[in-house]
Amino acid sequence: MRKLKNVLVTGGAGFIGSNFIHYLFGKSTSGEKAFEDANFSGRIINVDCLTYAGNGETLEDIDKTFGSGEKDPSKRRYFFEKVNICDRSEIERIFKQYDIDTVVHFAAESHVDRSILGPETFIKTNIFGTYTLLDVARNYWGVSLDNPRDDVLFHHISTDEVYGSLGPTGYFTETTAYDPRSPYSSSKASSDHLVMAYYHTYGLPITLSNCTNNYGPYQFPEKLIPLMILNMQEKKNLPVYGEGKNIRDWIYVEDHNRAVWLILNNGKTGEKYNIGGENEWQNITLLDKLIELTAKETGMNESDIKSTITHVKDRPGHDQRYAIDCTKIKTELGWERKMSFEQGLLLTVKWNLNNKDWINHILSGEYLNWVEKNYSKR
Ligand code: NAD
Ligand code: TYD
Repeated sequence: MRKLKNVLVTGGAGFIGSNFIHYLFGKSTSGEKAFEDANFSGRIINVDCLTYAGNGETLEDIDKTFGSGEKDPSKRRYFFEKVNICDRSEIERIFKQYDIDTVVHFAAESHVDRSILGPETFIKTNIFGTYTLLDVARNYWGVSLDNPRDDVLFHHISTDEVYGSLGPTGYFTETTAYDPRSPYSSSKASSDHLVMAYYHTYGLPITLSNCTNNYGPYQFPEKLIPLMILNMQEKKNLPVYGEGKNIRDWIYVEDHNRAVWLILNNGKTGEKYNIGGENEWQNITLLDKLIELTAKETGMNESDIKSTITHVKDRPGHDQRYAIDCTKIKTELGWERKMSFEQGLLLTVKWNLNNKDWINHILSGEYLNWVEKNYSKR
């Protein structure tokens, strides 16, 4: 088991990263108790430049208890640095200042639709930003093939989208060849390759994980689930791309983060692990479930909501199906999914209904109009 002392979390103000930080500090974001305690006793240095998708407010409770709210500086365990991961001198300063021994790299541009409209920031953050972190880690830790270390680790968070699109059968395994189709997934594929290259060429101790679609609290309302819940409340159209028959495999964010935590502690250096929910749904069926739950929770009329489903022009290069075979992490690290889809979806609907302030604050206001502008009615 590795000793994780000074953990640099990138993208900790985003959806999965902020849930990860809460999990490490023993707090569940759903309002219910976390499934299990991470028993983490080290420090977290959250590096996030706060793009449209990052919201510092998400970590206010953590900062109050473990960060600036702790009056004794020697007892502080949470630090926030508003820094872009592409800024090499700032990343070098942070490694030195906090004596970083572990990196958990979440920061990325993460939305496929945005990558289609403007790939440049995806190339910068996802590829160049990952390179910058890898290179600073390699230099700061002084590793090489002749000077290996087992007391430091760079963990890279990635997506199953790097594997491309599945037909009706089959699953992505860790050995499936990469076949990315969108600018987002190709930038993530590129970053995965860089991570493996730093392991093979420079002996940087790395682990890598490729996960399916996450859902849960604090997801930016441009992704399918929170966008639909928001639109229902605002009586806006529910834009379904194409026929709505595309399939995604959904995992509750805390189940993903528990898997990441296991890999950090016990994962084999140089290895990649697939993480999946074993929970496949066609978009249109998932939307039906969301409508049912939202109607029940708000007292809105279910068929009124259903009448707002609007089939819009399909996403270009829309991957048909993602599905992960996660046998490796189950058998090697003993991970298993704990959240049922029924419970997770209900928690997520409730969270989105009860946290309108957070949603209003993170929304630039421009996004919903942007969807309507870019995906016209068929
Ligand atoms: P997100 O968009 O909610 O959050 C990304 C965070 O990174 C934001 O806080 C943003 O401010 C920060 N960031 C972006 N560019 C940055 C930069 N240049 N420097 C510093 N900070 C920067 O994303 P998410 O959904 O939480 O995804 C986190 C990671 O998980 C990503 O690497 C993504 O590819 C991966 N992933 C996501 C999913 C999913 O379903 N959301 C599934 C599998 C893998
Ligand atoms: P999304 O949440 O953007 O995740 P990803 O593209 O990374 O899988 O989309 C999930 C699925 O929902 C995907 O098949 C696209 C579809 N979708 C819609 O039909 N309408 C929408 O408004 C959005 C945002 C997504």
